[in-house]
Amino acid sequence: MTQIVYLKPPENIADRAATLRISTRTAHEGVDEAIMKSGALDSPQNYHRFVHFQHQLILDVEPLYRREDLQKIFPDLSQRSRLAAVQSDAAYLGIDPPIGRSGADLYDIGIPEALGWLYVSEGSNLGAAFLAKLVWAHGLTDDAGATHLAPPAIGRAAHWRAFTASLNAVEQTPDEDRRTIESARRAFAHVRALIGSHL
Ligand code: HEM
Repeated sequence: MTQIVYLKPPENIADRAATLRISTRTAHEGVDEAIMKSGALDSPQNYHRFVHFQHQLILDVEPLYRREDLQKIFPDLSQRSRLAAVQSDAAYLGIDPPIGRSGADLYDIGIPEALGWLYVSEGSNLGAAFLAKLVWAHGLTDDAGATHLAPPAIGRAAHWRAFTASLNAVEQTPDEDRRTIESARRAFAHVRALIGSHL
């Protein structure tokens, strides 16, 4: 069971992304460990379960990528969606799509909560560099089964820096920042639950 340690809400979060990283480190480690232990990346057959898990997660967060209020904060938000990519991977591999969304309806959550979810969703692109290498070893490539793990055209680091610059520029009260942290933890808990049911 992940032990959650609440940080005191900082007076002024100069680097919100760094605070989120520290506040969700245990949750991230739990997710990372659970994926590796599941063996989902050990063979092409097992990788099908991983794609099904990613498809569900990406579908669940998709409403955020379509929200106009969030596009004002992250101008390239709609291009960041990986839904089309994971759909093409699922189709290529012959994997059934999820029946529908699972969990909270993210169309309706507040901006502080949305920032926490987006942090988790966008951050997973960084870890994808490591996952992609494991998957390529099975002969699955960027345009054949592993499109959703491919690096963005500008590179993963630059893509992440652009996201965190916008994330850090949002003005929030200490209470709103606390809500963002709690929401990122909830997002990781959701990911963990999906790992449990899919992998
Ligand atoms: C086996 C699975 C995973 C591994 C090995 C992994 C590994 C990593 C690594 C190495 C980084 C840092 C990359 C860098 O700084 O360049 C990272 C970042 C991150 N990952 Fe994962 N990851 C995994 C799965 C996930 C998943 C499923 C999620 C959430 C859906 C996630 C969320 C994040 C977040 C939010 C960050 C950004 C941390 C920051 O603020 O710098 N990861 N991951």
